[in-house]
Formats: sequence, structure tokens, C-alpha cells
Amino acid sequence: MKSIFSLAAAAALVGLSNSTPVPDATAAAHGPYHISGFFASKPHLSSGCRFEFNLTSPTLPSTPPVYCWASVELGFSGATWLGYVYQGLGHCDNERVDWTFNHPRGAETDRNDAVFNVTVDGVLGTYRVPKEDIYVNLNDEGNPFDNDVSYSGPREFEIVDFPGGD
Ligand SMILES: *[C@@H]1O[C@H](CO)[C@@H](O)[C@H](O)[C@H]1NC(C)=O
Ligand SMILES: *[C@@H]1O[C@H](CO)[C@@H](O)[C@H](O)[C@H]1NC(C)=O
Repeated sequence: MKSIFSLAAAAALVGLSNSTPVPDATAAAHGPYHISGFFASKPHLSSGCRFEFNLTSPTLPSTPPVYCWASVELGFSGATWLGYVYQGLGHCDNERVDWTFNHPRGAETDRNDAVFNVTVDGVLGTYRVPKEDIYVNLNDEGNPFDNDVSYSGPREFEIVDFPGGD
């Protein structure tokens, strides 16, 4: 609801006539969400994972892009997962944007996909990161504490899946 109200308010502000329907509050009006410089990595022998990316979308100012970041504590330098950036743990330099990232811990031989969600003005876009795009290096297999894990997919991609629908 919040996004519908703010869109209606924005439409009124730019003076759209009353006969113009209020633009769709969801996908068509908001997307795609364009991600660039996507980075997620657990440094060698560290137990934390760092995330960074830039975001532009049709309704956000594009220069500079919105910059987002997070650090998540995995608790273990042998982690082979990127962790859970839950609601509130991810930051952006624009308060209209919120995001989460969830790469659940999986067995060594059965790793999981991750889910990356970005919300602009309350409109959720979701993106599935295939497990093939998450690089894991066990390094010394005799040492369970020195694993590396990082995002290895495209640094630039678009979020086009808006589960809220139109
Ligand atoms: C985000 O964009 C800014 C400004 O364009 C740029 O300086 C920075 O390197 C970008 N960050 C990433 C993670 O790509
Ligand atoms: C991301 O969005 C999907 C689709 O609505 C939802 O099922 C999932 O719980 C969300 N994940 C997180 C970590 O917020």
C-alpha cells in the first residue's frame, strides 16, 4: 500500500492529469532493477562475508547509482556459504532501497542456490543466484578452517522477477 500511495503522490506532484491512470505500482513501473559491481566474498581465513553492489532502476536517480553494502558474520573461517543478510543488516545510501541475501549453509556435496531480494519503495524484486555462481575453494582439505567462498557470477545483471505482480 505504501508504494501505491507514494506513486500516487508523485504522479500528483508532477501534474499528471486526473484522467491519466495512476501508473502500475509494481513491476512495469519500477523495474528492472539493474545491479552492477556485485561483490560477495569471505576473505581467506576470515569468518565474515562482505557484500557490495550498485543499483539503478527507472524510479531511482542514476548518477550516482545507489550504493549498498553489508558485512555478515558467518562464525567460521571454514564457511562454504555466503550467509544471510537479513532485513535490516543490509545498508544502502538511499533509504528507499532495502535488500536481503540468503545463501543457506549446505552440505559439501549438496550446495544451495541463494536468493537476492531488492526492494525499492516497497516493491520487491527477487533474483535466484544459482549455486554454480558461488565459488568454493576448500584449499587444504585436511584443514576445515581455511575454506574460501565468493560470488563468481556476472557482476552486472538485472532483476526482472517481481513476485508482487501487476
Ligand atoms: C558504484 O558506483 C560508484 C560511482 O559510480 C563507483 O565509484 C563504485 O566503484 C561502484 N561500486 C561498485 C561496487 O561497483
Ligand atoms: C525473498 O523474496 C522471496 C519471494 O517473495 C521470498 O519468498 C523470500 O522469503 C525472500 N527472502 C528473504 C531473505 O527475504
